[in-house]
Amino acid sequence: MALDRNVSPNDLNAFWMPFTANRQFKKAPRMLVSARDMHYTSADGRQILDGTAGLWCCNAGHCRPKITQAIQQQAGELDYAPAFQIGHPLAFELANRILDIAPDNMAHVFYTNSGSEAVDTALKIALAYHRARGDGTRTRLIGRERGYHGVGFGGISVGGIVNNRRFFGSLLAGVDHLPHTHLPDRNGYVKGQPEHGADLADELERIVALHGADTIAAVIVEPVAGSTGVILPPKGYLQRLREITRKHGILLIFDEVITGFGRLGAPFAAQYFGVQPDLITCAKGLTSGVIPMGAVLATAEVHDAFMTGPEHMIELFHGYTYSGSPIASAAAIATLETYREEGLFERCAEIAPYWQEALHSLRGTRHVIDIRNLGLIGAVELEPIAGEPTKRAFSAFVKAFEKGILIRTTGDIIALSPPLIIERDQVDHLIGTLKEVLEALD
Ligand SMILES: Cc1ncc(COP(=O)(O)O)c(C=O)c1O
Repeated sequence: MALDRNVSPNDLNAFWMPFTANRQFKKAPRMLVSARDMHYTSADGRQILDGTAGLWCCNAGHCRPKITQAIQQQAGELDYAPAFQIGHPLAFELANRILDIAPDNMAHVFYTNSGSEAVDTALKIALAYHRARGDGTRTRLIGRERGYHGVGFGGISVGGIVNNRRFFGSLLAGVDHLPHTHLPDRNGYVKGQPEHGADLADELERIVALHGADTIAAVIVEPVAGSTGVILPPKGYLQRLREITRKHGILLIFDEVITGFGRLGAPFAAQYFGVQPDLITCAKGLTSGVIPMGAVLATAEVHDAFMTGPEHMIELFHGYTYSGSPIASAAAIATLETYREEGLFERCAEIAPYWQEALHSLRGTRHVIDIRNLGLIGAVELEPIAGEPTKRAFSAFVKAFEKGILIRTTGDIIALSPPLIIERDQVDHLIGTLKEVLEALD
């Protein structure tokens, strides 16, 4: 008998929800029961315009036929194949297709199941790479304040979001952090990339001087920081990080879990900014959020450092049961085809100026203290309620949901990242409704 998915579960208590105010939610649940293209349908039958591509992931929109069919077909053909010491063709095909759109210097793909796993994988590859080259003193990892790199111990160690770190012990040793690049006084209400702050990359020279380059394995940054509430790289900043890391033999990792697959109008942020890192982490948009899958892209130089020793030996002692699983691979191939056939990355670039102007029309709206944007990413920062940080933005989120738009909040910042199929009238509706919500908010 088919499951009836349209009923609300009768007991909400059993499910301990992630990154959720569980008690508040369970008193007044917000349930989604179906989705198509730009909209969710809520359990009470309302259409909710998706202003966040789920969680920055459904870049192609929802329930896209090609992706759905690919999953259905694959589930009936080869449901699972072991990932270690044996292969299946789709994982290889997908790796090639990812490289077709990746920055030129990327040559290999290592699969994971999520962004967090991609980050921990990239950090481990960086450490093992130096060791493989006889540079085993390079064990330090450098992240950035306010960075989000998922929730594994590696990711929270290099990450810089305080609440994601402070409850979980002493984390990885030997980690240091660059300063974040949020300079509201100098870059307030900037449209696109900010002018000021490239010099913040020079802090890496200070960290290198403090610890010694020969102790540092890698620097990891999000090219555009998303989950912290959208912080953009000042013009020239990423280029400078690249110069300094290269000068000191330090690997540069771009965490492209949200910027990968078209969010800025190019396949990857590395191409958008014209900066080539040594490793790229990605996930989310790889399958348009439909099936969990992540990946680390690596240069030939990084990969080849492992390809020594006897040929029967495993070169990298790392991997997951579901690395490159057949159904995820099929979903990802169909997703990449959808992006290409519909020209969705180009579409993002095309609509980005309209998005920018719509977003900045919120300047002067009640509670708004800053607005930031790039590609199809936007942030609206609110003045926090004195003594009650996060409460105002959370209220905005709840009210927005009631009014039929899905937004996301971190702290007192509203972050927006709609699917790349969004139309102009939907941009107007999203921003117009948000304005009404904010004007009506205490
Ligand atoms: C930059 C970045 N890295 C890593 C992650 C973690 O991805 P996941 O939730 O798939 O583990 C995220 C998720 O938002 C992210 O934005």
